[in-house]
Amino acid sequence: MLEVAPGPGFLAIQLAQAARYTVTGLDISESFVRIALENARKAGVAVDFRHGNAAAMPFPDASFDFVVCVAAFKNFSDPVGALDEIHRVLKPRGQASIYDLRKDASLDEIAAGVRDMQLSTINSLLTRWIFRFGLLRRAYGSQAVVNLVAQSRFRTCQLERDGIGFELRLVRT
Ligand SMILES: C[S@@+](CC[C@H](N)C(=O)[O-])C[C@H]1O[C@@H](n2cnc3c(N)ncnc32)[C@H](O)[C@@H]1O
Repeated sequence: MLEVAPGPGFLAIQLAQAARYTVTGLDISESFVRIALENARKAGVAVDFRHGNAAAMPFPDASFDFVVCVAAFKNFSDPVGALDEIHRVLKPRGQASIYDLRKDASLDEIAAGVRDMQLSTINSLLTRWIFRFGLLRRAYGSQAVVNLVAQSRFRTCQLERDGIGFELRLVRT
């Protein structure tokens, strides 16, 4: 499986530790690739962390059974290009799940999401502020995500709202 934009690689490392998966990660930040490789080394697992752009992946067609991407889709400068590349590197009937923040999350949903993080009062206030005035500004609303998928090779998707985020499920037919 492939994790697109794994950052420091914690999810990819956990998936590799589950031992049932051969895991590859692709991130545009060389620093994060170095950190993720070091984290995998410390964890004693093999994950193939690579440097590259989600919209121009260095993998042959039909390389992966599953693609996952967490908290990064809103950061992609070419989101349709990234979706097209996910489509290209998936095997036929392969699936992808993309998780990210929802721009249309309400203030109550943000407050509930931050409450679940069980932070100190000051960190909780700061985190709510960061969500509201930082992260959510870049995020896509549900309909915008569906529109981006419609422009991509996937064309259709399933979008589930989940608290302050969404899960976008894609299948390569
Ligand atoms: C907020 S971090 C999320 C990291 C990780 N998925 C997590 O949940 O901790 C966003 C990541 O997206 C990566 N990124 C941004 N644009 C990218 C692109 N075009 N291709 C690949 N990675 C990208 C960044 O380098 C960063 O590691």
